[in-house]
Amino acid sequence: MKLKALKGFKDILPDEAALWQDVERVARQIFHRFGYREIRVPILENTGLFARSIGETTDIVEKEMYSFADRNGASLTMRPEGTASVLRAFIEHNLHAERPVQKLYTLGPMFRHERPQKGRLRQFHQMSVEALGADQPEIDAEIIAMASMVIGELGLDVSLEINSLGCPKCRPDFNQALVDFLAQSQDSLCPDCERRRYKNPLRVLDCKNKNCQEHYVNAPSILDHLCPECVAHFQVVELCLNALDIKYKVNSFMVRGLDYYTRTTFELLTNALGAQGAVGAGGRYDGLVRRLGGPALPGIGFAMGMERLTLLLAEQPKKLSKPVDVFIATLGSVAQEKGFLMAHSMRQQGLAVVMDYAGRSLKSQMKQADRHNSRFVLIIGDDELAKGQAVLRDMESHEQVDIALSENLAAWSATLAEKILN
Ligand code: HAM
Repeated sequence: MKLKALKGFKDILPDEAALWQDVERVARQIFHRFGYREIRVPILENTGLFARSIGETTDIVEKEMYSFADRNGASLTMRPEGTASVLRAFIEHNLHAERPVQKLYTLGPMFRHERPQKGRLRQFHQMSVEALGADQPEIDAEIIAMASMVIGELGLDVSLEINSLGCPKCRPDFNQALVDFLAQSQDSLCPDCERRRYKNPLRVLDCKNKNCQEHYVNAPSILDHLCPECVAHFQVVELCLNALDIKYKVNSFMVRGLDYYTRTTFELLTNALGAQGAVGAGGRYDGLVRRLGGPALPGIGFAMGMERLTLLLAEQPKKLSKPVDVFIATLGSVAQEKGFLMAHSMRQQGLAVVMDYAGRSLKSQMKQADRHNSRFVLIIGDDELAKGQAVLRDMESHEQVDIALSENLAAWSATLAEKILN
């Protein structure tokens, strides 16, 4: 039997992994610019954590979690998202005592038993950030600006939609309006909506059923039911986004697939991935820290899907960062020995260097350099060596220059590294 990865689980092969590293590097740099620090949390948690945070009537908790009883009979779940775990850690380690606003980010795999398709996997990866302890609308705009900056620096074209889902004060009023609306449409609802319309009416707006979606076009808008405090909060979010010149559309039907959201929610959307439009999404979740047993602190965050970001990047003619700085091509046994020592010395100076010891032809070594996507090739032949010279070829401009070699390898490598890395 041929061994294969599970359906919806994917290997990330080296070429693709280089793209992942680019995305992670850009995101980490930007998160740091905004004062976020990394936190790493476990993949397995008690099932109750997700039921309590994401919500019992969400698709994720009802249908998609990888849950199982461990050897002691405890119900465990492979995390379907990162927010619940980060909040659990935040509460468990009293991180709120350390500073008034904790800005945290985490990267890693998530698991949802969904129907796999392009950009939708069962094991997927998120880069997610959470800001805990601040309820000011400026932090909402700041976090949206940070997400937009990641998208911008990756050179991607994505649109932004925002909404406000209100707070426990105004939500009941909207829920009632929704229940009244749904009462007129009893016969046309799908079984999920039928079940959820009393338990959790907001959830119906997230239904993927075509009939239901068409029907909900006429549903009441949450923005007409916000309390004055939520209206004012949302207005400042919009003011700040305008001040930062961040383009967005207000979409009052965006309810998100998780129950913990209050006030500002947002999604970064693309048309390039078929049905999987969201490359990132998030929002405010005031009250969630408290519900999970922590202090009454507000929070807001978002997550971006790595698979979707890298799919978009792979489709555009953006240059990959070159993983190899120098490929050393040698001709002759003396040159190969010298190359061996030079490669080590150049690596000690911070250059990424590859060479081959099989004594292949120059043509074959140049092909390898191409495959490695190397920026430069250093060609060393026994004849050139005798003259104390080598040739440095720029693989992008195809320019070739003679460079003098030196007995002082460390100093020579340092000069070359300075030239190449700066
Ligand atoms: P989410 O909308 O469920 O939010 O997921 C965020 C992002 O993860 C999506 O926009 C998408 O890019 C990616 N994603 C989700 N499911 C899949 C999948 N099956 N395959 C590939 N990519 C996927 C959350 O998870 C929240 N925890 C975000 C958040 C953080 N809100 C506040 N803080």
